Amino acid sequence: MLRIVFSKVKISNVCLTALVATACAVGSLYAADEIAPPNYDESKVPEFTLPDPLVAPDGSKIETPDQWRQVARPHILGLFKSEMFGQFPEADLSKIKFEEIKTQKDALQGKATRKEIRIYFNYPEKTPKADLMILIPNKVEKPVPAFLMPNFQGNHTTTEDPDVTAVDAPFRTRNAKEKPEDVRGVAKKRWAFEKIIDRGYAVATVYYEEIEPDQSVGFKYGVHPLFSNFDLAKDDYPATIGAWAWGLSRALDCLETVPEIDASKVIVAGHSRLGKTALWCGANDERFAAVISNNSGCGGAALSRREFGERVDRINASFPHWFTKKFHTYGARVNELPIDEHELIALIAPRPVYVASANEDQWADPKGEFLSCYYADPVYKLLGTPGFGGVDTLPDLNKSVGATIRYHKRTGVHDVTDFDWEMYLDFADAVFGR
Ligand code: GCU
Repeated sequence: MLRIVFSKVKISNVCLTALVATACAVGSLYAADEIAPPNYDESKVPEFTLPDPLVAPDGSKIETPDQWRQVARPHILGLFKSEMFGQFPEADLSKIKFEEIKTQKDALQGKATRKEIRIYFNYPEKTPKADLMILIPNKVEKPVPAFLMPNFQGNHTTTEDPDVTAVDAPFRTRNAKEKPEDVRGVAKKRWAFEKIIDRGYAVATVYYEEIEPDQSVGFKYGVHPLFSNFDLAKDDYPATIGAWAWGLSRALDCLETVPEIDASKVIVAGHSRLGKTALWCGANDERFAAVISNNSGCGGAALSRREFGERVDRINASFPHWFTKKFHTYGARVNELPIDEHELIALIAPRPVYVASANEDQWADPKGEFLSCYYADPVYKLLGTPGFGGVDTLPDLNKSVGATIRYHKRTGVHDVTDFDWEMYLDFADAVFGR
């Protein structure tokens, strides 16, 4: 197989000596003994070569958009399924039902209409279900483009508004001990709702554990039992990130029924594990117009072969349910992975993608996230887009760079901030020519 030689790239080594690990051992389910501590030393990053997305399985060069579409893309997507995330879930979509449970026309001091739509995944059964909360700007011409971004603790944690339905998820694992009312509004800093509405966009969010609990208990709860292609005996069963991604596709089905939203202009976004989810969702569901990965790190935008910050062995030990069984075998041999994360980004091409890092989030390997953008560029170029726009050096802090592929590294920790949202809104304006 022809390979890109990593060392040919001129990327400066600046900023990677800051050893601010935001790593947390949350959810550690395996014994940690055999796992080496994270590497934060750039000089210890091994030399590696990456699989070339523009080489076909038979070794021939992919030279046309058609060859990408017909040969390379299906092959690479198939490898991500067989080696990493599992098959994309399949289920009987005729069992999905949407029910509008609340509408408030004067949300955000009258600037927005808020709808809550309950998604039943196995109707007429009442569970599993998830509430999609949608804010739509009032004073603009409809239909409008929208962001779809799942949340970590419940829709009611994204706002202090007492009218938002509090989460009622029986298998809640994160923050399971809190009473829903105790956490109303706790995540509001991550949700720049007013900014988004003021710029004329709708925004929709869903609590990720209503789709599927974040636990390693044999995939018994949430939407997993509905998947016709789920079989634990197989190496490539759909795993939990795939289940969340499938849930976001169902949320898009729901948005397609909302007349005020232009469903051909929905950007799927996610932070951290949900950034990994957004990338996987966007790779599979080409209805999404663009994808945003916020601090997605290992298993998301960061190159696995760099072995910097969180590594494949660590993530599989801490979160065995996120990826498929086959991925668990790659911890000590990442160089044998037939794919790497630049190809996850390439699968989104030619649709625009934004990858964001934070300088104190070394656990997520900002440089590895940047390099994935860089190495996805040839695919974007082949498909006739400006791709990464000639960027070949890590940009200064808080500077957004690129074109169809965009990137920034902001100051601060693992988080979603107002700055991130401002960049995403500018990105969306560029994507939709607004
Ligand atoms: C842990 C995990 C990361 C993940 C993050 C999150 O830190 O190791 O891979 O991105 O949690 O989702 O918050």
